[in-house]
Amino acid sequence: MTNTELAYTGIYTDWTREAILAEVEKQMKPSRFQHVLRVEASSIQLAEKYGASVEACSLAALLHDYAKEHAAESMKEIVLSEGMDSEMTGYGSEIMHGPVGAYYAETVFGIKDEAILDAIRQHTIGGEMMTLIGKVLFIADYIESGRAFKGVDEARRLAEDSLDEAAYFKIEKTIIHLVKKELPIYPGTIYVYNSWIQRKVGKS
Ligand SMILES: [Fe+2]
Ligand SMILES: [Fe+2]
Repeated sequence: MTNTELAYTGIYTDWTREAILAEVEKQMKPSRFQHVLRVEASSIQLAEKYGASVEACSLAALLHDYAKEHAAESMKEIVLSEGMDSEMTGYGSEIMHGPVGAYYAETVFGIKDEAILDAIRQHTIGGEMMTLIGKVLFIADYIESGRAFKGVDEARRLAEDSLDEAAYFKIEKTIIHLVKKELPIYPGTIYVYNSWIQRKVGKS
């Protein structure tokens, strides 16, 4: 199935796909909108491969970067008024746009499905526990066809065999990248890494 063959059944939202696309497109520059469509295409492929709901994964993908280009001040307001972790406000829009995006998915698009909302919430840093939908979005955002960073081929290869291996790879590489760039690390990112490494070591 490709993006354009998908029609929503109204299970997750009353919005039509066309209306969602039009609204999402208004929130961002054209290059980011194209990224969103590629994340959706990659999410659909992973959903089909791993047996996740294609409709839920498509919606999570289309809405995941809804807040990315919003002003940091507006994101901060939502973080504080909605009782999200206030520590996020010290780490910029990169950290805030996932949880704030989930807030818009619920309030603008009426999405109530917790797995879709969690997937959007966790798409940047991952989650200590992630659903199948969450893992699909987390990996699709990382390996969509427009990505060209060093290591993306390895991530794509891992995603062929195991979403968990690909997710761990992304979590580990993100931490290494932040350390190399001497950037501060949001503590939630460390918690996610700790849970994944403990599970990984526990398994071997
Ligand atoms: Fe994002
Ligand atoms: Fe993204």
